[in-house]
Amino acid sequence: MTAAPPLLVCHDVSKHFGALAAVSQLSFQVAPGEILGIGGPNGAGKTTLFEVLSGMNPATSGQIVFAGRDITRMAPEAICHAGIARTFQLNASFDSLTVRDNVRVAAYFGRDNRRAPGLKIGAGTEAVTDAALAAVGLTGRDREIAGRLPVIDRKLLMLAGAIATRPKLLLMDEPVGGLNAGEIDRMMDAVRAVAAQGVTIILIEHVMRFLVALSDRVMILHHGAKIFDGPPEGLVRDQKVVDVYLGEGASQRLAALLEGGLA
Ligand SMILES: Nc1ncnc2c1ncn2[C@@H]1O[C@H](COP(=O)(O)OP(=O)(O)OP(=O)(O)O)[C@@H](O)[C@H]1O
Ligand SMILES: [Mg+2]
Repeated sequence: MTAAPPLLVCHDVSKHFGALAAVSQLSFQVAPGEILGIGGPNGAGKTTLFEVLSGMNPATSGQIVFAGRDITRMAPEAICHAGIARTFQLNASFDSLTVRDNVRVAAYFGRDNRRAPGLKIGAGTEAVTDAALAAVGLTGRDREIAGRLPVIDRKLLMLAGAIATRPKLLLMDEPVGGLNAGEIDRMMDAVRAVAAQGVTIILIEHVMRFLVALSDRVMILHHGAKIFDGPPEGLVRDQKVVDVYLGEGASQRLAALLEGGLA
């Protein structure tokens, strides 16, 4: 059996801000259907990597190939239409619009086959909107105003908007930052529901319980470079990861969590 070709290939990707190499000659691949977790200290370059992958702040050098196409210099909307969606570290929604209208906008503008000028929401867009709301557990919340939702629901709404563009690859930047344990479980369910639909996922997260429970593989960044790439179980055995990121205490707690089996 031959392995499926990778969905995403990053080759020697760098992003410089003046003299700072926020991402530095980074190479990695993601297989179709995989969940790749990314961790690393504050300022390691995690969000910058997403900026580069989504075209919002293009790479200084290197090459990104997605589904066989070179997307390194493509515009963000073209990358979205090619099949990459993302969520943001801070909540991003149209705050004065309803929950449903937020997802409708994503379902409509995220389509790659939108030809007719002008906005005409058809049955297809409504069906995609319904499916996206269901996947994140926001069915029935259609008429609520986005800006008034609790933080967890705003994060779930942002996820619904991303999947309404029907991505092959979803990038999630700290989806559970600031959430309590029960809310983290809700987000975990939503991510699993999205993954079950065949969407490949890269997620950045500092909450290790969330990261290791969901990820098939974890990559740790430090000063823009990869210091670890392997199974979640390997994290606590890697002295460099323990030294620069986890620390001894967190590392011991994570080891106990891994040993006890993940929820
Ligand atoms: N637009 C920018 N202009 C200049 N420097 C930037 C810019 N964006 C990010 N940086 C710098 O690049 C480095 C990496 O930042 P980045 O936001 O990618 O880190 P991160 O790993 O996402 O951190 P955190 O865990 O805190 O979110 C930091 O030193 C940051 O100050
Ligand atoms: Mg970040």
